[in-house]
Amino acid sequence: MTWLITGGAGYIGAHVVRAMTEAGERAVVYDDLSTGDARRVPAEVPLVQGSVLDADRVARTLAEHEITGVVHLAAKKQVGESVERPLEYYRQNVEGLRTLLEAVTRAEVPSFVFSSSAAVYGMPDVDVVTEETPCRPLSPYGETKLAGEWLVRATGRATGLSTASLRYFNVAGTATPELADTGVFNLVPMVFEKLTEGAAPRIFGDDYATPDGTCVRDYIHVVDLAEAHVTVARALASSPGADLTLNIGRGEGVSVREMIDRINAITGYARPPAVAPRRPGDPARVVASAARIATELGWQAKYDVEDMITSAWTGWVHHHPEAARS
Ligand SMILES: NC(=O)c1ccc[n+]([C@@H]2O[C@H](COP(=O)([O-])OP(=O)(O)OC[C@H]3O[C@@H](n4cnc5c(N)ncnc54)[C@H](O)[C@@H]3O)[C@@H](O)[C@H]2O)c1
Repeated sequence: MTWLITGGAGYIGAHVVRAMTEAGERAVVYDDLSTGDARRVPAEVPLVQGSVLDADRVARTLAEHEITGVVHLAAKKQVGESVERPLEYYRQNVEGLRTLLEAVTRAEVPSFVFSSSAAVYGMPDVDVVTEETPCRPLSPYGETKLAGEWLVRATGRATGLSTASLRYFNVAGTATPELADTGVFNLVPMVFEKLTEGAAPRIFGDDYATPDGTCVRDYIHVVDLAEAHVTVARALASSPGADLTLNIGRGEGVSVREMIDRINAITGYARPPAVAPRRPGDPARVVASAARIATELGWQAKYDVEDMITSAWTGWVHHHPEAARS
């Protein structure tokens, strides 16, 4: 099959391209390079520079490359920015998806994988979040992902398109230093940045109802996440009319304090964290049930938090050589 990977020049998308091509699938990247980097796309993979909002360009790309499946990762992803610029987030993430789905159904492409997020759950009041846990997103970003899931599912039901919405939990790590996350929006790179600057990493709130008082999250290695896309893409290709919603996590909670301790140990900085006030809207605990994808598709994560931090650090040092400890 030939898969169009929208957002394939981004952090996660580049890992999906790598996993797909290593598994023997053909990949074509479609990316406007707004936050992506063309150097992440291997020379043998065609890169079409364009926005998913450009209906003509999407339609031409689907036809020219004889696309038989789409993995849609292209989106804006910063929660705080989405609060300030909701219209732009709805345009890129919802209108962009609608435009893409219109072209996909016109071209009768049979399979569609959508990048959703644990942000759809908002502030869950359960220890382990299953796909049946009610979705109450807290930000425009989370809303666009939930609206995206609805659009994808409704289109599948109306047209027979096989669909999957993948709810990623906290993504970290890298396959190679070059493919590392260069943004500073997630905990691991945020801590790296503070350590490199000579500052204390920050904990936002240590009075949550969790074992050490700091927020608990479920971290997933980007290489595992990319492998999950291959599993899901193949499942869709072999089951017409599929309608999947899947958590992609490890089912293991790790606190912010534990993460900072491990990062300090792995990087050799050993700088104790400073406690800052809680950030509004941060849930105490968000941990996935990873049971559905294991039972239905036989997929489970292989890498642990140690692997994530170690690989992410090689990437950080690659992009910030001054950070290396002698
Ligand atoms: N990184 C995470 O922790 C995380 C967690 C949950 C969900 N997600 C989702 O995963 C997806 C990928 O995230 P990422 O971390 O790789 O982000 P990223 O910013 O590295 O990648 C997004 C890619 O999409 C491209 N893009 C953005 N808007 C586009 C448009 N209109 N048309 C074409 N290309 C466009 C960008 O240039 C970039 O290459 C997003 O949908 C994001 O919401 C990410």
